[in-house]
Amino acid sequence: PGPDIFSPSRGNSSGHDISSRGVLTAIEAARNTDVPLNATSLLAAHLSAGESVPAVNPATGEAFGTVSNASAEDVEQALSAARSWSAPVETRAAVLNRAADLYEANTGAFFNLLAREAGKTLSDAVGEVREAVDFLRYYADQAAKHSENPKGVFTCISPWNFPLAIFSGQIAAALATGNGVLAKPAEQTPLIAALAVKLLHEAGVPRDALQLVLGKGSVVGAALTSDARVSGVAFTGSTQTALNIRKAMAGGMAPDAPLIAETGGLNAMIIDSTALPEQAARDVCASAFQSAGQRCSALRCLYVQEDIADDFIAMLQGVMDEYLLGNPWELTTDIGPVIDKAAKATIDQHVETARKEGRLIKQLDAPETGHFVGPALIRVSGIKDLQREIFGPVLHVATFRAEDLDKVISDINETGYGLTFGLHSRITKRVKDVSQAIHAGNIYVNRNQIGAVVGSQPFGGEGLSGTGPKAGGPNYLPRFKNRAAPGTYA
Ligand code: SER
Repeated sequence: PGPDIFSPSRGNSSGHDISSRGVLTAIEAARNTDVPLNATSLLAAHLSAGESVPAVNPATGEAFGTVSNASAEDVEQALSAARSWSAPVETRAAVLNRAADLYEANTGAFFNLLAREAGKTLSDAVGEVREAVDFLRYYADQAAKHSENPKGVFTCISPWNFPLAIFSGQIAAALATGNGVLAKPAEQTPLIAALAVKLLHEAGVPRDALQLVLGKGSVVGAALTSDARVSGVAFTGSTQTALNIRKAMAGGMAPDAPLIAETGGLNAMIIDSTALPEQAARDVCASAFQSAGQRCSALRCLYVQEDIADDFIAMLQGVMDEYLLGNPWELTTDIGPVIDKAAKATIDQHVETARKEGRLIKQLDAPETGHFVGPALIRVSGIKDLQREIFGPVLHVATFRAEDLDKVISDINETGYGLTFGLHSRITKRVKDVSQAIHAGNIYVNRNQIGAVVGSQPFGGEGLSGTGPKAGGPNYLPRFKNRAAPGTYA
């Protein structure tokens, strides 16, 4: 299937309806919620006392809870206990909808953990809870179309940047199609995962059909992706890890076991001289800096037409000056921390190199405690200057001449990635031509390029950005029940 093209008239950029009063009530609840800060107490089953590791708050760098990682015996126990979910499809759909109700009832507890464990601002936390609920309800609704066999057990490996939404989306899809799940969340966000699994069990998902297995990817993830008792893998994370998983699967699992991988991107946006500058500047900054740039959909390389570039880049700096960085709990905070010390070090080093080379246009100051990175604007000659995805609040800017537009498009395509792409132009023919020429899963026209809405904006890329099918769309569930040839993965 080709790309999906979204303009402001189709779907909206936040998509997540929750009233202001609802948000304020949940924030109040979040501040007063006594969330259990120990994954073992959240989840009595299948967690023995393996290695104990701290849960760390990215905004302070301080430990605030504990997590027991699974031992080799725990992993073996989980694999041998794992079962598909044999309940009729109507029951599965009802249980997933009940889980969605429980998520909503626990919005305060989720806000609390999303801020403390993942450094999410309150506005990002609102979107995250809504997206998780949307996934549960959407796949419950779709399940009716997918009741037939065969079914098995899926390993679901999810990232820290959407520790509730993507975690829940993968699980809900596998469960909706009658599979059992071994869920391996990112090492940075186990408590959010533990609360989600607790609620899914409370809603009625049998314990042997959904087991949480915490630990390092290199140990736990490796074991869960190379075992013949597992019939498929859903993974969201880096392209390199997806390639490793494919290799591990080939060594231990059936040759037709599906790998559903959503991976990285080197996402670009083109702004031509007909764009509405105020709108484009707002959309560029949201795409690059919201969630501290820690979205796979985030804008990494902006191309601005030379004629308007000086004024436009000045305007971007004006938007950046309005940002407040700080404690994710404060309603006034726009940008929170990056996930951990290692992420901060990698991003800081990238910005430092640009500073030394005289290419740093601007960087905002960041709080000194915790893992904060000031949003940065870096000049590049084009996307080919970017060796790899920098997963943080860093926007690279290039300029182009109108006659070089085709070259810009072929450079973007030649990265081999193809996740999101943005275009700001008021020339209808150009919108049509560029959208056809660009290889990307999700193309956004005259709006920001983040925040795909479940059910109306299926999300996923091509090439190095993933195998498809797109999450939150009608083609996703069939992949969890068909043991057809795996998707091609470059
Ligand atoms: N679904 C997310 C987004 O669209 C992916 O990072 O932003």
